[in-house]
Amino acid sequence: MKKNILTGIKPTGTPHIGNYFGAIKPAIDMMSKGDANYFLFVADYHAYTSVKDPVLFQQYVHEIAATWLACGLDPQKVTFYAQVDIPELFELNWLLACNTPKGDLNRAHAYKALVQENIDQGNKDPDHGVSVGLYTYPILMAADILLFDSHFVPVGKDQIQHVEIARAIASRVNNTYKKEIFVEPKEIIQEEVASVLGLDGRKMSKSYQNTIPLFLEEKKLQKLINRITTDSSGPTEPKDPEKSIIFSYYKLFGSKEETADFKNKLINGISWGEAKAALFVVMNEKLKGPRAIYDSLMKDKTQVDRLLKEGAKKAKAKAEENMKRFRKNLMGY
Ligand code: TRP
Repeated sequence: MKKNILTGIKPTGTPHIGNYFGAIKPAIDMMSKGDANYFLFVADYHAYTSVKDPVLFQQYVHEIAATWLACGLDPQKVTFYAQVDIPELFELNWLLACNTPKGDLNRAHAYKALVQENIDQGNKDPDHGVSVGLYTYPILMAADILLFDSHFVPVGKDQIQHVEIARAIASRVNNTYKKEIFVEPKEIIQEEVASVLGLDGRKMSKSYQNTIPLFLEEKKLQKLINRITTDSSGPTEPKDPEKSIIFSYYKLFGSKEETADFKNKLINGISWGEAKAALFVVMNEKLKGPRAIYDSLMKDKTQVDRLLKEGAKKAKAKAEENMKRFRKNLMGY
């Protein structure tokens, strides 16, 4: 029997090249191997814990879906859908909630961090600003995972605890009912492809405002590249490639030969202006094909919506079938 591999992507911002090399590319590479059943979904209900503007919400959903499609996600091989089309998630969510000790949620990192922030800021209410939705976020995530009998869940390090909570819920139910009702899922940690640096040399992150959005239009890409921090060495002075943010990007986009050649040029001394121009060429060359697909998907959003609905049909059929089994096992209906 083929294994089920499932992961969710939360639409809360415009994808940048750090997201691409850290999450999107490794996942697409894995899914194109095709030796398992793959499920990839837009975690719109999870995004709703923080995005409360419907126009922006739809923009993020379309951007994230169009990005994955433009990067090579094949909806024929991968069941690609959005949570919003799978109401069974909420039925399972309740059944799981009734099998989750409240203390497990108290110990969830994301919740604890917010409580700590309130304490640090001297707030009288440690739960200030914490919605019930945010608090029970791990249960909905467990429903995402368990509904589809997922064996493996590829995630970044920050999500390990959430998969552990899902596994604990599954095993608790199986023990209570003395029957293997739920598959007990395991995380697959995407190997840390040395995290991508931001324009200012810190880790690339939306919160530092130092990102390069993946499908930025050409002119704007060029402008951002020109903003990359460099040292004050003169145009003919040798430059240490390993200390250069420009080289760190070049390596990601250039071929082996191009990269070796560029490295030599830096060591022998070229101006930062020339180095930036060369980086733009190599990045743009790689990005322009997928960018054209992305632009066309963003122009006619009905295409993305249609693909998500088609994926949802497949996912919902599975969800209904599995939910029937869970309902029978847990409540006897
Ligand atoms: N919480 C995940 C994140 O923030 C997204 C997510 C939601 C997810 N449901 C999931 C990931 C189920 C894996 C499996 O990135």
